[in-house]
Amino acid sequence: MRENIRSVLKKLEKRAELEKSEKIQVSHDERMLAISSETGEFFNILLKAIKAKKILEIGMSVGFSTLWFADAILSNNGKIITIEENRNKIAMAKKNFEEAGVSAQIEIQEGKALQILHKLATSELDQQEFDFVFLDADKENNIEYFDLVLPLVRIGGIIATDNILYPEKFRPEMKKFTEYIKSKPNVQTITLDLGNGEEISIKTD
Ligand SMILES: C[S@@+](CC[C@H](N)C(=O)[O-])C[C@H]1O[C@@H](n2cnc3c(N)ncnc32)[C@H](O)[C@@H]1O
Repeated sequence: MRENIRSVLKKLEKRAELEKSEKIQVSHDERMLAISSETGEFFNILLKAIKAKKILEIGMSVGFSTLWFADAILSNNGKIITIEENRNKIAMAKKNFEEAGVSAQIEIQEGKALQILHKLATSELDQQEFDFVFLDADKENNIEYFDLVLPLVRIGGIIATDNILYPEKFRPEMKKFTEYIKSKPNVQTITLDLGNGEEISIKTD
């Protein structure tokens, strides 16, 4: 991993720990709500293994997960499109990406994910299929997000979804989500007990 990416990840990891332990007080709106480092490492390896070049992220926050993805696509000349609606978080993410030296690889789309995905689904971008999509924004729209991104993913591409197991308050919603995607003929999917619980779904045809 590139040294400047590693050092920004370390800094953000410390901040996430402080937030979780409530050693620093931040409003919900300002919380990183990031994936765990183990989850980041797992995705980093997965992306390298599938030689991912094109990534779509829904729910960027301050860019912790995005940085794990960015490291994996650097040697592949890849690109990430990431969606976030919170302006303060976007400003923090931009600083983090600059410090890590990966701003050129990351396109931030500011706004509501549903609107942006509808535009993306009808734009020319759909010619260039995504290798990997990460769903990590508002949980109640996951089914709609999944249906919108599935046609944008290449066969053999992956859609990963965070928070399948934790926090527990999301479980009923996530159960509906996983049952829904399991019913799709062109999707094979499994829940991993890693971090907050990751759903790993592959588009089979
Ligand atoms: C769990 S956090 C993302 C954490 C990030 N993926 C990481 O692991 O570092 C979810 C983010 O999605 C954003 N978000 C929630 N609903 C959204 C929506 N409808 N459109 C765009 N962004 C949204 C929130 O502002 C928040 O920053």
